[in-house]
Amino acid sequence: MPSNVIVGLQWGDEGKGKITDLLSKNSDYVIRYQGGNNSGHSIHIKNRHFVLHLVPSGVIYSNVKCIVGPGVVVDPKSFIQEIQNLESMGISTSKVFLSKRAHITMPYHNLLDQYQEEALGDKSIGTTHKGIGPTYVDKIARTGIRVLDLLNLEVFYKKLKYNVDFKNQIFTKIFQKNPISFQSIYEEYVEYAKIISDRIVDAVYEIHNAFRNKKKILFEGAQAMLLDINYGTYPYVTTSSTSTGGVCTGTGIPPNFLKNFIGITKAYCTRVGFGPFPTEIKNKMGNIIRQKGNEYGATTKRPRRCGWLDLIALKYSCMINGINYLVITKLDVLSELQTIKICVKYKYDDNIIQYFPSNIEQNVKGVYLDLPGWKEDISHICEYEDLPKNCIKYIRFIEDYLNLEIILISVGSERNQNIIKNKPLFLKIFT
Ligand code: GDP
Ligand code: IMO
Ligand code: MG
Repeated sequence: MPSNVIVGLQWGDEGKGKITDLLSKNSDYVIRYQGGNNSGHSIHIKNRHFVLHLVPSGVIYSNVKCIVGPGVVVDPKSFIQEIQNLESMGISTSKVFLSKRAHITMPYHNLLDQYQEEALGDKSIGTTHKGIGPTYVDKIARTGIRVLDLLNLEVFYKKLKYNVDFKNQIFTKIFQKNPISFQSIYEEYVEYAKIISDRIVDAVYEIHNAFRNKKKILFEGAQAMLLDINYGTYPYVTTSSTSTGGVCTGTGIPPNFLKNFIGITKAYCTRVGFGPFPTEIKNKMGNIIRQKGNEYGATTKRPRRCGWLDLIALKYSCMINGINYLVITKLDVLSELQTIKICVKYKYDDNIIQYFPSNIEQNVKGVYLDLPGWKEDISHICEYEDLPKNCIKYIRFIEDYLNLEIILISVGSERNQNIIKNKPLFLKIFT
């Protein structure tokens, strides 16, 4: 059965939660492959509003199996809170599972994240302070603690002891901070282990069995391409492989199991945290877009920086991710603008370039074309042909530049505020 991957093409918050939920209707499995509770994936269904951090966005459909995959880092406290929250909102979480191989975020990871950011001063990354980077650092350093270690408390005890002793050296000697208590962390995590143990599975076999049984599988990316550890705007990135390459390393499947790569882009750009942003709008237009698009972080509530759509960055993202189809979200937010700018080149020092440089920094600025806007509110429109003429021109311009088809246009945060542009193709991919 073809499997589909959903991946954000910008700096996150493209609407992956909304689109994953929508496409989950026709899926048997939704699987997260990287990141942790730094994600905030929003889903709006009538007057119910969900923000998912670790639980895959297929959870609203009770028949969908949701797996937090091997490449994810799991903060058990946050995971348990999320599960309890969903249950209290009437959502069954009985089909939510955790991979044995996923690494665990411990309280010392959150502290390290915070202290490192403080130490970086004006060079800080603007992380979510969720301990994501330090958890992956321990994984790569081969000293991390995995979910499966919670099933063997003797092993867990030893690994935790080593880590707490080691981290306390760093806290006291490097950061001049207080040490943390081994015993209280141990006791806290033993309680978490009791709560989550029934959900722990060998996700690699589970996923391979699902493929063998021809199940429909949707992989849900977190963060986005330009935050990728290898290909994003390093060092202003997150710590995982957010791009489609991360699906294989984060779930244990071979590349030839994957079929469609669906890239999600907003109709403009946003970024939370620091780092290069060539099309950032620093005048009051940025505030207008922030207000209209309600651009405030789903995880940290920070105001998101706003900018015009950047086709150079988007083309780069599509290239690295092997995108075959695009979904564009938040097109409704651009209604009522007289002119919409779209970035088709960069000014890089004194040169005009048409590629995404590997050392992208403050000296890269967008060069724009002005496209005419549209006045009408489009948030109630369901058919492509009913969109204003200039809106269709905007869509076509993006498709032509990227040489890719936009299959779905999202015009509001509600589950049903969508325009399926090419219905036969859409049905072919998603049913
Ligand atoms: P994610 O991290 O990619 O899942 O995105 P977030 O949930 O962090 O941020 C996207 C925000 O935009 C959420 O508040 C969504 O409810 C909202 N949203 C998604 N699609 C649309 C859309 O087409 N129009 C509008 N106005 N809001 C949208
Ligand atoms: P979703 O899945 C937007 C950003 C942070 C910071 C950088 C590193 O909702 O799209 P980290 O805590 O990961 O070490 O922070 O990455 N960041 C996100 N920005 N959406 C996200 O997730 C993000 N997850 C991390 O703001 O700039
Ligand atoms: Mg988000």
